[in-house]
Amino acid sequence: MTKKIVLLPGDGVGPEVTKAAETILGAVGDQFNLDLSMRSFAFGGAAIDAAGDPLPPETLTACQDADAVFLGAVGGPKWDGQAIRPETGLLRLRKALDVFANLRPTRIYKSLLDRSPLRTVTPKTDFLIVRELVGGIYFGDRSEGSETASDVCLYHCHEVERIARVAFEAAQKRSGRLVSVDKANVLASSRLWRGVVTDLGARDYPDVTVDHMLVDAMAMRLIQAPDDFDVIVTENMFGDILSDEASVISGSIGLSPSASLGDTGKGLYEPIHGSAPDIAGEDIANPVGAIASAAMLLRHSCNAEAPARAIETAIETVMAAGHLTRDLGGDLACTAMTGKVLAALEKAFASSH
Ligand code: IPM
Ligand code: MG
Repeated sequence: MTKKIVLLPGDGVGPEVTKAAETILGAVGDQFNLDLSMRSFAFGGAAIDAAGDPLPPETLTACQDADAVFLGAVGGPKWDGQAIRPETGLLRLRKALDVFANLRPTRIYKSLLDRSPLRTVTPKTDFLIVRELVGGIYFGDRSEGSETASDVCLYHCHEVERIARVAFEAAQKRSGRLVSVDKANVLASSRLWRGVVTDLGARDYPDVTVDHMLVDAMAMRLIQAPDDFDVIVTENMFGDILSDEASVISGSIGLSPSASLGDTGKGLYEPIHGSAPDIAGEDIANPVGAIASAAMLLRHSCNAEAPARAIETAIETVMAAGHLTRDLGGDLACTAMTGKVLAALEKAFASSH
């Protein structure tokens, strides 16, 4: 059956890294006889410029009708201070697709160990942040006046429970250890969060060890001892912040992929980096985060584990051979790096056939 993939190149370096993901998806699609249809739609600042709306109705309809959505990046200084921000399109899209579980893995590529700025990182560093994506302060009531402004952080038990389930199940498949992050010493929403996670664990996941950590302590601990962690679950804004922090561990934010999933298997996939307007159009962005996101897309939305692994192995092979983009001290362009991954895929395919 055809898998419908919608591409949303977006802004800044978004189109460049989306092209990289599209190239690699096309190649593994041919190798593994996957029936993938890929179509691009306007999104973000580019769609504000073209249509006055960061999520035009035809883009939303296409995403709702798709099996998976791949997003490059959104935003940029060009739209700062304008009535509508590109980011609101992304928040509306996440909400409309109800992709409440945002998986952000951090691992160290062994060949890049010396590129990590942290001495505490070891080859064992490998953890998954599970970020709640469609609730909390991002979606609570907002008021914005010239004298006062407020953002409400609201969570319902069922919202906490469904993201906690995703995290418990991930922990069961990994090492059986889960850390839930909150700010329960100050915030009521965090006390609710902690209670729900504790009860759910005791009731349905007695085989998983759960610890609770305050977000400030976690910000420190992640740097001090990144190897301590396996699965980390947290609310929307803490997850946003901690996942940027975590991405530094691997050596560059350009390496980090993400998947946002709901209950249906449909997903939204994006590298966690932003639109990087300062380097847009120069063909120097690192495409690895986007390509690794494409692997997650195949794994989670197309039931295609072997092609996903093939992509991940190709990335490892290329980086182990010393081929790197500038963010990691190399000199390869975005398109050249993509070409290397493509060549590694083709070589692996040829030797297995
Ligand atoms: C991310 C980004 C987004 C977020 C922005 C662009 C709205 O930082 O995906 O982490 O805050 O969720
Ligand atoms: Mg972020």
